[in-house]
Amino acid sequence: MARAGTPQDLTITPRDRRFGRGVAQDHWWISGDPVATAFYNALSATFPKGEAFFVESVRLFRDGTSPKLAAEIKAFVTQEVMHSREHVQFNKRALEAGYDLSGLEARVEWRLSITRSRPPIVNLAATMCLEHFTAILAHQLLKDPRHLKGADAESAALWRWHSIEEIEHKGVAYDTWLHATRALPRGKRWKIKAKVMLFVTRNFVIDRTWGTIELLRQDGITGPKAWARMFWFAWVRPGMLRKILGAWLAFFLPGFHPWNHDDRALIAKAEQGLKTQAEAYA
Ligand SMILES: [Fe+2]
Ligand SMILES: [Fe+2]
Repeated sequence: MARAGTPQDLTITPRDRRFGRGVAQDHWWISGDPVATAFYNALSATFPKGEAFFVESVRLFRDGTSPKLAAEIKAFVTQEVMHSREHVQFNKRALEAGYDLSGLEARVEWRLSITRSRPPIVNLAATMCLEHFTAILAHQLLKDPRHLKGADAESAALWRWHSIEEIEHKGVAYDTWLHATRALPRGKRWKIKAKVMLFVTRNFVIDRTWGTIELLRQDGITGPKAWARMFWFAWVRPGMLRKILGAWLAFFLPGFHPWNHDDRALIAKAEQGLKTQAEAYA
């Protein structure tokens, strides 16, 4: 496989956008669908604390990086801080629309407290794995309009904006990890990253499933019906988890790098769509 690495001419551009201020959110903001709403609300509940964790994990290894990577880390931090800010607002609107996210946030806090008790290099590895996760989710979200079909305009714009920037900075935690582990033999590096990826994937699937089921419970959808509907949504139609499976597996290939797949054309197209929408609402 070609070892492309992060493109030399990549620019990571923090876009200071605000979404949904002063706008009430529908309880089921995405096509009136409780399952889609629960899925994205559960994901959003993790971002403010989760992305703060990514930032602190990467920052610890910034010393000694090349000027290019140091600049990319800086831009990554700015982007993640703004994502946290906008998801705090999004979560506030979900609360006003009738969802209680406090249990989900407490679970994120609990999970992070365990991770933080591990050495910093393990935290960096976990961040690098979760950043791959967010990048492949983001790619799928932008690629297939069915995922956000029927979402209200402001919320759809928030998720697209976040997706654009997740793709744009997808190599930063990975390159920081490569820098931090440069003295390790390749086999050992691979073993650590594979082990950490399996571990964070397990936790990601368990925790997001739990969160989605909990939000469905708040809507009175429980038992086998809740599980069946969630399974159908995640794995069949629109099938986000099924669609990212190949990209998830690619992580384990020798020579993997997030930029082996250059998806900047997808970002450019999505950005054009966002601009057109912003102009329409201006
Ligand atoms: Fe983010
Ligand atoms: Fe990110």
